[in-house]
Amino acid sequence: MHITIQGAGRGIGLAFAHHALAVGATDLYLTARNPEQSAGYARLPPSPNIHWFAMDFLDPDSIANTGDAILAKAPHLDRIITTAGLLHDGDLQPEKRLGALTPEAMLKLYQINAIGPILFFKSLWPELRRAHPLVVASISARVGSISDNQLGGWYSYRASKAALNQYMRTLAIELARYNPNAVIATLHPGTVDTNLSQPFRGHLAKDQLQTPAQSAANLWDVLDHLLPGNSGGFFAYDGKPIPY
Ligand SMILES: NC(=O)c1ccc[n+]([C@@H]2O[C@H](COP(=O)([O-])OP(=O)(O)OC[C@H]3O[C@@H](n4cnc5c(N)ncnc54)[C@H](OP(=O)(O)O)[C@@H]3O)[C@@H](O)[C@H]2O)c1
Repeated sequence: MHITIQGAGRGIGLAFAHHALAVGATDLYLTARNPEQSAGYARLPPSPNIHWFAMDFLDPDSIANTGDAILAKAPHLDRIITTAGLLHDGDLQPEKRLGALTPEAMLKLYQINAIGPILFFKSLWPELRRAHPLVVASISARVGSISDNQLGGWYSYRASKAALNQYMRTLAIELARYNPNAVIATLHPGTVDTNLSQPFRGHLAKDQLQTPAQSAANLWDVLDHLLPGNSGGFFAYDGKPIPY
């Protein structure tokens, strides 16, 4: 199995890389913004079968170049997963009210959470469209569901994940015309013990918090069971579909 994982330097993406090897992946094509500085690179250093690429979703050229480099190296791809997600970063915090919105933060979240993944898939289009069994997934978030939004808040994170879901569903429709064996999915990983969730889970019961390894194993299993007829769907870590 040849597997591409974007965002494998840490968090759920790194757990995906470990899980992929545990279940028989032969070759990994892994990305991080700065691979050499990442925990993933230290734990899974480059080898004839582990390939690292530097890619930043804020830099469209790096996306196109990484897509080209992966296509040049991989004989084929069986699974492609993007995991990038930004919720907070220093002064950038999820908005609790309308007055907190800033164009800079809105744009940054949209670039990383929605534009980056779909441009990455664009860069891999020759492999996507080739008729072969293929699973393509992006880690989204349940809060990106518009119909499920009962609490409000987190405007830009919610909106960027909703945009990601729409991009992926639209891709599923186009891709089905070329590669009817492909499955495109967006995934909710649950609440997972990573840097992203760290400031926001005080109220959570301990058994509701998953380790990155648990979440990655659950999501991998969900992807194992999806069929082309499920393409374009949004699924939680327990396999249940989430309404858009
Ligand atoms: N943790 C949760 O409870 C939870 C809940 C719902 C959804 N999610 C989603 O799960 C996914 C994984 O998050 P995580 O929990 O593993 O968080 P994390 O440990 O904070 O990891 C964030 C990931 O996003 C990548 N990233 C950030 N900025 C980027 C950029 N400019 N370009 C490319 N990649 C960038 C990081 O790559 P670098 O290492 O290169 O910075 C890293 O791989 C995200 O999409 C998140 O929205 C998480």
